[in-house]
Amino acid sequence: MNSPEFLNSQALQKILEAEIASSSHQRISFAKYMDIALYHPDYGYYNSGITKIGKEGDFFTSSSLGKDFGELLGIQFKQMWHNLGCPNPFYLVEMGAGNGELAQDVLNYFQLENDRLFTQALRYTIVEQSPALVAVQQHLLTSFTALDVTWKTWSDIAQESIVGCFFSNELVDAFPVHIVNKNRDKLQEVHLSLEQGELTETIDSLSDDRINQYFDLVEIDLSKSQYPPNYRTEVNLKALDWLKTVSSSLKQGYVLTIDYGYPAAKYYRPSRTQGTLQCYFQHRRHNNPYANLGYQDITAHVDFTALERQGERWGLETLGYTQQGLFLMALGIGDRLNELSSGKFDINEIFQRRDALHQLIDPTGLGGFGVLIQGKNLNASQQSLLGLTVPPMF
Ligand SMILES: C[S@@+](CC[C@H](N)C(=O)[O-])C[C@H]1O[C@@H](n2cnc3c(N)ncnc32)[C@H](O)[C@@H]1O
Repeated sequence: MNSPEFLNSQALQKILEAEIASSSHQRISFAKYMDIALYHPDYGYYNSGITKIGKEGDFFTSSSLGKDFGELLGIQFKQMWHNLGCPNPFYLVEMGAGNGELAQDVLNYFQLENDRLFTQALRYTIVEQSPALVAVQQHLLTSFTALDVTWKTWSDIAQESIVGCFFSNELVDAFPVHIVNKNRDKLQEVHLSLEQGELTETIDSLSDDRINQYFDLVEIDLSKSQYPPNYRTEVNLKALDWLKTVSSSLKQGYVLTIDYGYPAAKYYRPSRTQGTLQCYFQHRRHNNPYANLGYQDITAHVDFTALERQGERWGLETLGYTQQGLFLMALGIGDRLNELSSGKFDINEIFQRRDALHQLIDPTGLGGFGVLIQGKNLNASQQSLLGLTVPPMF
C-alpha cells in the first residue's frame, strides 16, 4: 500500500515509537497517544490537511446542515449583546471552528440583519489549533470584509480581556482523554507500550494525580461495588484546563458549550462498562482507536458535570443546561419549520430544509446534545437567556 494515508500512519507510528522509547517507563498514556494521533503538527488527524467534516469527510456536525443552526445561534448571541448593555467591543470567540461553516452562517446572519451598532461592536475571533484548518476557515470567510474577523491563539488572549461570549460546538469531545480501568477497588490507567514492535495496551498506575481529584470533583466513586471489575471509562483533564483558561480570559459574559455528553451520574453509570470512546472514519462509527492512525477522528462524550463544577471553581456560574433540541426550539426553530409550508419555497428546498431542521432537534441525534451556558459577572437580568426559556410547544 502506498497511498498518502499509509504514509501518514507510518510516520505517526514512528513518532509514537520514539515517544515511548524516550519516556520513563517505556510507555505513554492513552491521552498522549490520542493527542499525537489527532494533533501532531504534521501528521495528526486535525492538522494534516485532509477533509474531515461534512459529506466528503468522516462526520457531520450541526454546522454541516445548512444555515439554520448558525442563524439561531446568532439570535442568542445578539440577545447576549443586549443583555450586556450593547458593549463595544463585543467579542464572540469561537473555539475549534472546523471548516468554518458555523462562523460563515453566524456572520452571514449578522451581515443580512444589518444592525450597524452591533456590527461595529462585533469582534468575531476564532481560536483554532490547526493551521491547516485556519487556512480553510480564512478562505471560506474572505468575503466578510465589512466585519471584524480575526484569528488568535490561546496565548494572544489576555486575562479578563473578553466581554462577550466564548462558544464551541463539538470542541470538548475532541480533547485527548485518559482511559481508566477499575482493578478491584483501585483505579488504574490504560498506557501504551511496544511489544515486538506492536503498540500494546498495558494497565498500570495513574499517570496523573488529577485523575483521582477529577472523580472527587464530579462526586463519582468507582470503588463502589456497583462498578464491576475492569470497568473502563474516560477522564477529560484537558477540558478542565481549557475551561480554566476560558474563565480567566472572560471579564464579563457567557460561555456556551454544545456537545454530546451527559451529566456525571449518567456518564459514569455502572452499566456503561466500556466508557464512551468512539471513532469516525468515512462516516462509519466504531470503537478501535488504533485503526486508521491519523485518518480517523477519536472522541469521547463530554461530562457536563465536570464543566459545571470546574466553572464554579473559576468564577463561572451555571445559567442553564439543556438539550440542543429544546435550545433551538426556544430560539425559534419551530417557526422555521412552519414557514416551510408558506408556499414561498420550492419543493426540493422544502424537503432538504425540513430534513435538516428535524435532524437538528432529533432527540436521538443532534437534538439530544447538551447545551451548557455559564456566565461571569452577570446580574439577574443579564442571566436570562432566550435559548434557556421553555420552548413554545411546551
Ligand atoms: C470536531 S471539530 C468541530 C468543528 C466545528 N466546531 C463544527 O461544528 O463543525 C473540533 C475542532 O476543534 C479544534 N480544536 C481541538 N483542540 C483545540 C484547542 N485546544 N484549541 C482550539 N481548537 C481546537 C480542531 O482542530 C477542530 O477544528
